[in-house]
Amino acid sequence: MNKLLIAILLAIIVLSCSDGDQLKNKSGQTVRQWWKEGTLYQIYPQSFKDTDGDGFGDFRGIIEQVNYLEQLGITAIWMNPFFESPMVDNGYDVADYRAINPRYGTMKDFEEMVRVLNDGGIKFILDVVVNHSSNQHEWFIEASRSRDHKYHKYYHWWYAENGEPPHRHSLFDPEGGWDYVEAVNAWYLHTFAEEQPDLNWENPELRREVYEIMKFWAEKGVGGFRMDAFQFASKDTTYPEFPEGHEKNFIQWYGMRPQLHDYLREMYTEVIEPYHVFAVAEGAGSTFQDAHDLVDADRKELQTAYHFEYVDMSRTPEGYELSDFKQVFTRWDSAFAEDGWLAIFLSNHDNARLVDRFGNTSPEFRTLSVQMLNTFLLSMRGTPYTYYGDELGMTNIDMPSIDEYVDVDALGKYKAALASGQNLDKFMEELNYSSRENARTPMQWDDSENAGFTSGTPWKRVNPNYKEINVAAQEADPQSVLNHFRRMTRLRNENLVLVYGTYDMILDDHEEIYAYTRILEDDRLLVLLNFSDDKAMADLPNEVEIGATLINNYESDPFKGNNKVVLEPYQAVIAELR
Ligand code: GLC
Repeated sequence: MNKLLIAILLAIIVLSCSDGDQLKNKSGQTVRQWWKEGTLYQIYPQSFKDTDGDGFGDFRGIIEQVNYLEQLGITAIWMNPFFESPMVDNGYDVADYRAINPRYGTMKDFEEMVRVLNDGGIKFILDVVVNHSSNQHEWFIEASRSRDHKYHKYYHWWYAENGEPPHRHSLFDPEGGWDYVEAVNAWYLHTFAEEQPDLNWENPELRREVYEIMKFWAEKGVGGFRMDAFQFASKDTTYPEFPEGHEKNFIQWYGMRPQLHDYLREMYTEVIEPYHVFAVAEGAGSTFQDAHDLVDADRKELQTAYHFEYVDMSRTPEGYELSDFKQVFTRWDSAFAEDGWLAIFLSNHDNARLVDRFGNTSPEFRTLSVQMLNTFLLSMRGTPYTYYGDELGMTNIDMPSIDEYVDVDALGKYKAALASGQNLDKFMEELNYSSRENARTPMQWDDSENAGFTSGTPWKRVNPNYKEINVAAQEADPQSVLNHFRRMTRLRNENLVLVYGTYDMILDDHEEIYAYTRILEDDRLLVLLNFSDDKAMADLPNEVEIGATLINNYESDPFKGNNKVVLEPYQAVIAELR
């Protein structure tokens, strides 16, 4: 379809909307937004493309690959933090929010990168890490010297004259969430590593600093913000004792206090609205109500958020049940069918690779299963987030020994396993499978040394399967994961039904097939996904009448007449419904 035709069709759809139409909200306003229609691509900057041979990816590498990014059909890039940092948590410990870590380039390089991306129709989403700073940030250095310094109140303290602080769990530090600083005779709080002290959002001066930082980047052309770990920005600072085992419901106890919404509304008025930028939060609270309170448009807080329920179900080698997967997605979708908008992702820098967790890594099924998962991701309602390398089917790397690990999370867990006398072989087996380091290996561009990622020594070992899984090889193969991904983004970009259409699961109890319809006015699509490594059969409801097939990762037609479908292993099909 050419662009003019699409524009005319869209205009007709929008003009003909009456009450209850899917492109309008309850108050009758049109709800079309770029951040709903686009596909976000996440880049882990140190692993994407190195141009100066220091072994770390850089901004110039992204500039060099802008054609690749454009051809992916994505519309925005979220990049993990690239600010000045001691890199205890690979940049999630920021020492200066306005300065760039020189390994990635200069401010000029950054500006050029954003310009080049914008020219290619790609917005840039900045990772804002303001639940905590680095302990090397000037604010914390001063805060730890004197209780009288204005920066002291930028952090959370428990003063020694009140005795020992009540236990607080830390996500990265097995010794707990408080650390003592002698100069001020007090403990500071850290939800993550001890080098990541939590910022005190109750202090309006701190909040003002953050908004100024966000404005600084918005003025550089940034199109949106990803708010890192933001649900923890508001906590109960009366610090009551928490019951034993509470950390299993971490968010409920450690974050999402009512003030969070006040902060977000303030941020919206100060930054989001005047700069026409978008914001997505990591985390969506622990209930649908929490999530709605964050993202419903009339509340003017955030545009979207992402939750972890389905990602959490695949953290161990035992895997997951398709029935749970279907149920989780369907539940979340129905809770947001009328109001609010969510992000959809299956992988990111905090999880092992997509294909290892949700697909099948065997040579026979790797390509097919990733194609099927990407078809899923790009055909659901919600904004899809794709993590770099998943458009190729990059896999976990084998790291059986703890000596190779550098991640603060992995090292913290190892320390805890040692201290509690866990079976270390079993622990290492699980870590090898689930560690987020699996997802941080260099991008596999071609089959030359170091996968074409760097001419130097890569900061992290390249996955040895790069000779087989790489961009160059997949460019040349029309049936590759990469070319399938491009076909899927094109399909989504050209069919608003895949963005705004209703979602309805069919064949609810089928054990191998996940099937659903997407419907927007007269556009009606059926998505059929075989999640198993076997042929799967089903009878479609009688009223279903199949039209043209729009995407299929096999040559074979799954529709057999009499409303029977037979799907090959990991077959993924999207067809029109008459
Ligand atoms: C978020 C990030 C993660 C980081 C943590 C602390 O969860 O996604 O990578 O380690 O926050 O900033």
